Amino acid sequence: MKNINPTCTQAWQKLSALNEQYKGLHIKDLFQDNARFEKYSLQLEELLVDFSKNRINQEIFEALIALAEEGELQSAIDSMFSGEKINGTEGRAVLHTALRNRSNSPIQVDGKDVMPDVNAVLAQMKAFADKISKGTWLGYTGKPIQYLVNIGIGGSDLGPVMVTEALKPYQNPDLEVFFVSNVDGTHMAETLKKVNPETTLFFIASKTFTTQETMTNAHTARKWFLDHAKEEGAVAKHFVALSTNGKAVAEFGIDTQNMFEFWDWVGGRYSLWSAIGLPIACAIGFENFEKLLSGAHAMDQHFKQATFSENIPVILALIGIWNTNFLGASSEAILPYDQYLHRFAAYFQQGNMESSGKYISREGEKVSYNTGPIIWGEPGTNGQHAFYQLIHQGTHLIPCDFIASAISHNPIGDHHVKLLSNFFAQTEALMNGKSLVEVMAEMGKAGKSADEIEKIAPHRVFEGNRPTNSILVKQLTPYTLGQLIAMYEHKIFVQGVIWNIFSFDQWGVELGKVLANAILPELQNEQPVNSHDASTNGLINAYKEFRKL
Ligand code: F6P
Repeated sequence: MKNINPTCTQAWQKLSALNEQYKGLHIKDLFQDNARFEKYSLQLEELLVDFSKNRINQEIFEALIALAEEGELQSAIDSMFSGEKINGTEGRAVLHTALRNRSNSPIQVDGKDVMPDVNAVLAQMKAFADKISKGTWLGYTGKPIQYLVNIGIGGSDLGPVMVTEALKPYQNPDLEVFFVSNVDGTHMAETLKKVNPETTLFFIASKTFTTQETMTNAHTARKWFLDHAKEEGAVAKHFVALSTNGKAVAEFGIDTQNMFEFWDWVGGRYSLWSAIGLPIACAIGFENFEKLLSGAHAMDQHFKQATFSENIPVILALIGIWNTNFLGASSEAILPYDQYLHRFAAYFQQGNMESSGKYISREGEKVSYNTGPIIWGEPGTNGQHAFYQLIHQGTHLIPCDFIASAISHNPIGDHHVKLLSNFFAQTEALMNGKSLVEVMAEMGKAGKSADEIEKIAPHRVFEGNRPTNSILVKQLTPYTLGQLIAMYEHKIFVQGVIWNIFSFDQWGVELGKVLANAILPELQNEQPVNSHDASTNGLINAYKEFRKL
């Protein structure tokens, strides 16, 4: 991939000039164009993305497309899909797309087609998931598995959690699924209270199989299990490993026959499509897992082939860049109007912020522009009663993605129409706002006195002009969820290419891990410490004192 400083492109200069020129642009005025919705929305099968409620006009849109072209995005896309080692700081290919390559076309890494290995692990996953679904995988006392406990963290947790929650309607009713990630013993202790060792299957999910939190939890689970089962031989029936590190798996005591492999070209936060997805496949059945892969593959094909001006992930990425680098937004909210997507924003916090939270360019220089925004969000309508106040009337510009399904899995009474009326109303309100004239007229009509109107009216004014994208799917299914996830993955990729950063490493999480390892032995004795700064020494020593009391 070429290293192109985006601020040195003609398109960036043009966008800066357009930003000045259209400072007063209000989204609602742009809707004088009756064809705006048709121009600025795209549909891929049963997924509709409306990006018309953004502060963009035709000139800005064209300049954004030009930015992608000058950033040589197409060649970067081709490099990713063809297995080039675009993860430059780790010398790795980036091939989560190969994991869902349903066309099975060959993809070479180091001169070897990866697809036979991908297919072999998928076949192994299918055989295993089928046994769990049919109740033919038996525990050490001969009973079928009832409880699935995934032990992993970060990418080895967030994806499987988010997807199993999102696809609850497809879950095998004979199974209960738990996820333990936090090294806080409470997470494990509370989970173990709910499961039975005779019928529990543990997935030890770790790309490296060295992550402190996961290995600590895995050892605790193993001990708990052996305290009940009393025989080492029973471990094979209750522990499987999802990892790239066969040696560490064997050392832990899991038979490598019960290991589901993946490869260094699968990034942790892009790994739910790999063996890391095994708990998903067991929970919802392998056929549904395949539909998830197929949905993602459909989005991959669209991303690879569609021209930039009709390319959903490319457009979402460019709008994000416009909002971040020109309009000054520093965060983005993801607001699913679907309770099943309640972990979606949390999932993309890692996806986005581990990928784009970088201030060093691909050339190793400090960038002079903002990169990844802060990602956050909660399901609507809960968010409406919590933080939307700030989105509507706060001093920060917060672009929002609203996500909803037309058909609910739970058509109870009028819940879904009420939910969707909020979904539609919010983006309209964020765009239109309410002017002082409107507020005054409304208050006058309600019989308020002139004094009260003067005093209160300014507080009831909404400037509007808040940018939003609306993403509507027919129904939240494994297939549409696959499309949605892949859409955001590619959005993040496009932004990384244009921001000229390496999206697929995460060096920023290392320092804290190293320091925690240095501090750990200091906490395991009574001696006061003085090896740190005064604050850290003071805190550690207070901790030791509290424990003595
Ligand atoms: O915290 C950083 C990180 O490396 C993530 O990127 C990764 O998803 C997570 O830790 C877990 O790593 P592993 O799967 O190797 O246990």
